[in-house]
Amino acid sequence: MPLARPLRDSTVVITGASSGIGTATAYALARSGCRVVLAARTEPALQRVAQGCAELGAQALVVPTDITDPAAVERLAASAVDRFGRIDAWVNNAAVGVVGLFDEIPVTEFRRVLEVDLLGTAYGMRAALPHLAAAGGGVVVNNASVLAEVAMPYQSAYNAAKHGIRGLADTVRQELRLTGRGAISICTVLPAAIDTPFFRHAANHTGRILAPPPPVYPPELVAETIVRLLRRPRREAYAGGAARLIGLQWRLAPALAERALAWYAGRTQLGLAVRPPSAGNVFRPAGEGIPVGGWQGRRRQLIRMTAALGLAAARSAVDTVAAFARQRREVR
Ligand SMILES: NC(=O)c1ccc[n+]([C@@H]2O[C@H](COP(=O)([O-])OP(=O)(O)OC[C@H]3O[C@@H](n4cnc5c(N)ncnc54)[C@H](OP(=O)(O)O)[C@@H]3O)[C@@H](O)[C@H]2O)c1
Repeated sequence: MPLARPLRDSTVVITGASSGIGTATAYALARSGCRVVLAARTEPALQRVAQGCAELGAQALVVPTDITDPAAVERLAASAVDRFGRIDAWVNNAAVGVVGLFDEIPVTEFRRVLEVDLLGTAYGMRAALPHLAAAGGGVVVNNASVLAEVAMPYQSAYNAAKHGIRGLADTVRQELRLTGRGAISICTVLPAAIDTPFFRHAANHTGRILAPPPPVYPPELVAETIVRLLRRPRREAYAGGAARLIGLQWRLAPALAERALAWYAGRTQLGLAVRPPSAGNVFRPAGEGIPVGGWQGRRRQLIRMTAALGLAAARSAVDTVAAFARQRREVR
């Protein structure tokens, strides 16, 4: 079911609004004329985004919130209702990531990624549901990732959390229908790699600089998808053609897609420059109130994709020669 009222008369809560896709979504919603409630940990960045929303003619409320604290998330919902009278939609968007081999990621960081990405989304849904019901219906949008459907090496905690969000959303949707609350929609967004500060914010235990595997899409593309879902809710929506394609490959030939994606992401996610281990923004706020990360230059993307494909060609040539040599040795 769509929103109970037009978007321009709606109040929408957005978590992770201090950076990247959350910031782009706040601006997209502000342009649609709705009231936005902005949550994340970094208050100055949220204030900057609120100012930007006000300049676009929208009312914005800033509520600094750590989404790993369920009581704080309840207070976020209460603040939104206190200020604007009701909540019509809730966008669970905040997340953190830790990049590294599964058995080399510190346990504390692995746990925290699950707490922020999966439990934070669950707390958001729990806080939102009674208010959406009181508003006569509404929409929850969970910003997951195409990594809720497929997997990528060095991202085990994030992949597990994002797969969990998808399962959680599907279950809650079933329960809402069973309990006569079908006026509340639950939507999951599955974006491809997006040009945000995420890869700079992520905890890093790879020893190398990180970069999103190309193609990389602008954050506004996800913001538009979220706005579209608020107007016309669907169970799931991809953002970015690459996400749709990878999802299809994974459903048609999962074993092959798993190998291909491991190979590709393994080569494009890690840069050449050396980096010491870092916990990134996993435990500390880092929002700057800017949507983009600076990865999207066409030339840069083309170079990285070409380099990855060149490496592939070189490697398969080496493999072929080695196999040929092995075969000749066996024949002799
Ligand atoms: N970038 C991509 O390639 C990509 C692709 C697919 C899906 N996504 C998803 O898109 C969403 C937004 O990510 P992004 O790319 O925009 O990354 P980002 O720029 O790093 O933004 C992450 C946001 O989450 C907030 N946050 C982190 N921990 C929090 C906590 N404990 N409590 C409250 N807020 C917290 C951060 O703000 P503070 O530091 O101020 O708390 C920030 O506003 C995430 O769900 C991500 O998984 C991203």
